[in-house]
Amino acid sequence: MEGNLTPFVLLLALLTLQLCSADASPSRSNTQYIRTSCNVTNYPRLCYNSLSIYAGKIKTNRKALAHTALNMTIAATQETSVIMRRLLKIDGLKPIEAAAALDCMEEIGDAVDELQNSIDELSHVVRGSNFWLQMSDIQTWVSAALTDEDTCMDGFDEHNMSGRVENLVRRYIVNVVHLTCNALALINSYASTSTEALLP
Ligand SMILES: *[C@@H]1O[C@H](CO)[C@@H](O)[C@H](O)[C@H]1NC(C)=O
Ligand SMILES: *[C@@H]1O[C@H](CO)[C@@H](O)[C@H](O)[C@H]1NC(C)=O
Ligand SMILES: *[C@@H]1O[C@H](CO)[C@@H](O)[C@H](O)[C@H]1NC(C)=O
Repeated sequence: MEGNLTPFVLLLALLTLQLCSADASPSRSNTQYIRTSCNVTNYPRLCYNSLSIYAGKIKTNRKALAHTALNMTIAATQETSVIMRRLLKIDGLKPIEAAAALDCMEEIGDAVDELQNSIDELSHVVRGSNFWLQMSDIQTWVSAALTDEDTCMDGFDEHNMSGRVENLVRRYIVNVVHLTCNALALINSYASTSTEALLP
């Protein structure tokens, strides 16, 4: 029997080598790149699930990874803003709850603007002396967005808003906070490992 197993083992080894070698298939190595990069984020699974569909576009480019993460984050934030507006229209919201929801919507609106600023700046990041200044602006804007989203969340918690719609909105906001945390981690990672600042 042992004699018969050898070719089988060899075949398996060959197959493994083929499947696991980095350049066996470009898309496979690209999703692996995203998995590894997402490891620095607070929510690696969310990071991987939201970004892996863009693996072909991101390839192994850190800047594209950060840019895509910001794109995803702003889209989710805008969607949350729409849901918030819907929440404000429902009957039976106590005045204090309505006020909290209105505040929250403003915070979310500010977060969208700040995320947009960070995206605009990231598209203009150039090699050379301004690199660190630009990255620091981007980090500041994304952190400000995170703070606004967090303030919105706190308002919800303070007023014990826990109806069906409120819980739905809460889920949206939590998702936005997590996506923003992840985007910030990927931006920090791009900034800290980038060689662009060193190039002329
Ligand atoms: C992610 O990081 C952990 C520890 O920081 C490490 O054990 C694990 O192998 C890493 N996974 C990937 C896919 O890089
Ligand atoms: C981000 O979104 C903008 C506008 O929707 C798009 O033009 C751009 O290609 C996207 N960038 C990445 C890296 O996905
Ligand atoms: C929220 O609930 C907590 C305890 O469940 C209570 O102490 C607090 O007063 C409530 N706050 C509001 C604004 O109703």
